Amino acid sequence: MGEVDTAFIQEPEHRPKLSPNQAEGIPIIDLSPITNHAVSDPSAIENLVKEIESACKEWGFFQVTNHGVPLTLRQNIEKASRLFFEQTQEEKKKVSRDEKSTTGYYDTEHTKNVRDWKEVFDFLAKDPTFIPVTSDEHDDRVTHWTNVSPEYPPNFRDIMEEYIQEVEKLSFKLLELIALSLGLEAKRFEEFFMKDQTSFIRLNHYPPCPYPHLALGVGRHKDGGALTVLAQDEVGGLEVKRKADQEWIRVKPTPDAYIINVGDLIQVWSNDAYESVEHRVMVNSEKERFSIPFFFNPAHDIEVKPLEELTNEHNPSKYRPYKWGKFLVHRKGSNFKKQNVENIQI
Ligand code: SIN
Ligand code: FE2
Repeated sequence: MGEVDTAFIQEPEHRPKLSPNQAEGIPIIDLSPITNHAVSDPSAIENLVKEIESACKEWGFFQVTNHGVPLTLRQNIEKASRLFFEQTQEEKKKVSRDEKSTTGYYDTEHTKNVRDWKEVFDFLAKDPTFIPVTSDEHDDRVTHWTNVSPEYPPNFRDIMEEYIQEVEKLSFKLLELIALSLGLEAKRFEEFFMKDQTSFIRLNHYPPCPYPHLALGVGRHKDGGALTVLAQDEVGGLEVKRKADQEWIRVKPTPDAYIINVGDLIQVWSNDAYESVEHRVMVNSEKERFSIPFFFNPAHDIEVKPLEELTNEHNPSKYRPYKWGKFLVHRKGSNFKKQNVENIQI
């Protein structure tokens, strides 16, 4: 086994099991009632909303099929991701994220102080020429919201943009289903996403790891945004903490499906009706793995708090309001919570 770099080593209680529990997977939900008009009828949509509700309550995670994102776009972005990461470190570092910009390439990230076994490229869904988000008046830190694109592969930016358009459409549809499942109007969440959305796409590359029993591709965390729409390849490695018994369950790859999870924002908006669930990524010693999450996030200046329709005197608001943009800048040291939302990663 060569040298072990201790930066990557998880504490014993957080180390993965190499033969994971695969007994029961997260639900697989067929979206054809809303994507295929030929089969659409009101009772099919009602059933779909029920499936979404129970998946969100029991798991916080589900997979979707017949989701409407054209397969060719997914194949294009998967190929672009492989070609980008195959380059030399020197080439990749030409588009490095720096301490003040949110996008680009990086090969070092820590989750709960342990280094993740991965390299990443982030790309914003909307390319605002420049939206400064200062964390507060007395803090001169500014996050630059601009995109960089590598020169190789050619058409990288077009491929990303085309894919993002479709995956964003899917995200809006999912948000409608989630709203309906909470007893809200279908478009209830839409206003939060209309202007200066902070969504972004991430290309993840997990190289083979000589000590997969000690390290993780991404350590345990919850997603801080609204929804995550994840394309994972056929290698697999994502694990979700099952709410019923707190066991780590591996998500079996389903070809061309997307894995969806509700993030901390849905937890707060729904006043804990739906909880953001912990997950992590295992690596393996033989195969590299690629995944592409789309983090669907609202406008940077919105205030986040439980929705009025979902709170009342018997179910009072569990969270103090917080500004999403400010949280993005300060995400690790955030202090808005009254209870268990633990915003670790967006
Ligand atoms: C993540 O949760 O950050 C990554 C998920 C994955 O690669 O499967
Ligand atoms: Fe995540």
